[in-house]
Amino acid sequence: MVAADPIFRSRHWTVVVMTAFVLVSSQCGNAPTSEGPRLAPTQPNRTSPLAESMRQLDAELVDFRTRFLDVGGEWQGAAFTEYDLNDLAPTDSSMFVDGYQALAIAFEKRIADFNAHPSDDSYSMVVSGCISCHQKACPGPLERIAKRKLP
Ligand code: HEC
Repeated sequence: MVAADPIFRSRHWTVVVMTAFVLVSSQCGNAPTSEGPRLAPTQPNRTSPLAESMRQLDAELVDFRTRFLDVGGEWQGAAFTEYDLNDLAPTDSSMFVDGYQALAIAFEKRIADFNAHPSDDSYSMVVSGCISCHQKACPGPLERIAKRKLP
């Protein structure tokens, strides 16, 4: 009969009162104020237009590579979506490293080459274009991109 124990009960109330205090005071902390530091919004960042295009291109690599492995060198009809990467906003301006524009233009040319002449070689040129930019601008996805190479 632990609940009947008076010491347990008073501890229990201490916890309730402290919890209520923490809730009330943290709401005050979150209240918008006109001055002083403001907290970041609690929701995660929205996907940037650039990140969205990257996911699409990555999905296309997976698709073409799988098709290639399944039917062996059958590139008929394969074409990447053509994005103007210099016109798509990234999450954060720190991603615009020196030479970004040139890397984006070179990459778009590789995409156009593949779309005109889809082949093992033009596919591999696209993957190495992904890698060139990512080595400079955003190394996080490099490991994933390496898996898109042809065997
Ligand atoms: C000209 C530079 C450039 C090229 C080329 C490029 N990327 Fe990216 N990529 C970026 C930048 C910058 C980001 C970060 C975007 C952001 O967070 O807004 C990114 C993000 C990504 C992400 C993470 C997306 C997410 O969900 O947050 C993946 C995956 C990715 N790229 C794969 C690729 C693949 C695959 C290719 C080739 C088909 C490629 N990238 C070509 C610059 C590039």
